[in-house]
Amino acid sequence: MMKDLRTFSKNNILVSPSVLAADFAALGEELTKVEQGGAELIHLDVMDGHFVPNLTIGPALIASLRKKSNLLFDVHLMITDPLKKIDAFAKAGADHITFHIESDDDPVETVNAIHAAGLTAGITLKPGTPASALKPVIHLVDMVLIMTVEPGFGGQSFMADQVAKAPEIRKMLAEAGSSAHIEADGGVNSENAVILAEAGVNILVAGTSVFRHPQGAKFAIDGLHDEAKYLPR
Ligand code: DX5
Ligand code: ZN
Repeated sequence: MMKDLRTFSKNNILVSPSVLAADFAALGEELTKVEQGGAELIHLDVMDGHFVPNLTIGPALIASLRKKSNLLFDVHLMITDPLKKIDAFAKAGADHITFHIESDDDPVETVNAIHAAGLTAGITLKPGTPASALKPVIHLVDMVLIMTVEPGFGGQSFMADQVAKAPEIRKMLAEAGSSAHIEADGGVNSENAVILAEAGVNILVAGTSVFRHPQGAKFAIDGLHDEAKYLPR
């Protein structure tokens, strides 16, 4: 059964652990661990060595993980040409695809292709890109992802100056008649989750702070879920 992001309440925090911080030799077990720990999504970071300097995973690995997990597959494409890869990721079992506004492809065409493949669509922006750059496409997306690190690597420090984009994006969404989810990604942990929730971010991507938490993944996920009390009502 495919999971549909649009059916999740925005009054709760959803947790999307990033596989970049997981043990790649035991990825199936790592997904089971966070699923049993209460995570709703799993964040799959795809990098092409071109849009960002790093190389990570592709559709083949995602297809084999699909057989092991019922989590909502939250695919974050850090690639130059997302459009021609949509079908491959849809076939592999992605439930949701987020791509970068800085990529080469037309954003409206790309969102339409994601929807045509039966998935929900997200748009994201690098820290240096203003929220206003999302204008041409924001009314069409199911999620906006705010990058709180420079995309490319896990384990970086949270950029607090990016949090101000959340109310700005919420306002743009409201003006477009949309109540899309807002996700944040990069250096997220139980401390900065408070200001993210207060700013209206309801999906938290967390790699290092979940998979490498000294008290275990479940403890970390519970802590992130607890920040739902700070969401604007
Ligand atoms: C960065 C990735 C993030 C990152 C998150 O390019 O998009 O998803 O892996 O990992 P942490 O939480 O360790 O910053
Ligand atoms: Zn990511």
